[in-house]
Amino acid sequence: MKIIDLHTHLLPNVDDGSDSLSKTIEHLQVMSESGVDKVFLTPHYMLGTFTNNKEDVLRQFEILKKEAEKYMINTELVLGAEVYCDDTLLAQVKEEKLTLGKSNYVLFETSLNDISDNSKHFIYELQMNKFRPILAHPERYSYVHAHPSIVREFINRDVLIQVNASSLLGYHGRKVKEIAWRMLYKGYAHFVASDDHCRHSDYILKKAFYKVADKIDETTAELLFYHNPLKVYNNEDIQAFYVEVRGGGGSKRRKHRPWWKKLLSFVKH
Ligand SMILES: [Fe+2]
Repeated sequence: MKIIDLHTHLLPNVDDGSDSLSKTIEHLQVMSESGVDKVFLTPHYMLGTFTNNKEDVLRQFEILKKEAEKYMINTELVLGAEVYCDDTLLAQVKEEKLTLGKSNYVLFETSLNDISDNSKHFIYELQMNKFRPILAHPERYSYVHAHPSIVREFINRDVLIQVNASSLLGYHGRKVKEIAWRMLYKGYAHFVASDDHCRHSDYILKKAFYKVADKIDETTAELLFYHNPLKVYNNEDIQAFYVEVRGGGGSKRRKHRPWWKKLLSFVKH
């Protein structure tokens, strides 16, 4: 099992994620042991709340990279960003290239409560400037709860969708969990990531991988946790309507053999 985590707040002291280098290193050790091949460090860029700039973030990133080398962490660290959709930040995205690694993919979040015209303009402008938007955790937004079909509208606009592992595992309540799974079954999710804020000692992305493999299938788990994130890393194209979930719409159907067939195969051996 290989995993690439596309969305984390493990870069110390830049946002509401990790608040120390040692905590991040401890966390990276767990991730490395869990088979995480690469991790994107995606600090918040949100005016007035987390006023970051690439230069400062890059400095922190270099410090972390050196420390990770010292501890012989196998997981590759990749610098990224999670940008709040706001026109002022749009200029910063363009100037400082606030993308995931060296790709043109931009991870963005919206207000929890509404999708304004401003957000639509943000998406449009990104695309006009050859960036590829990825919406972070739509299952957590109340406007998606009110109108779940809006997720399909995002995809129609060529926006890719990232679902949180914590949502699939039910950490944010029944409603969020239900919407997150529905998105996976319908093929409306392109990535599952941890959005890890370094608040728990365990690493939930691996747990979510096995849940998806069990409830849907392993091919889908590999696609959402590894192959699509790898395409982002390599800046390769991902089709908006790309995810194909076999037998989607309900829980995984297992074929049960009748008892007499089981008995016959037992006798044969
Ligand atoms: Fe986040």
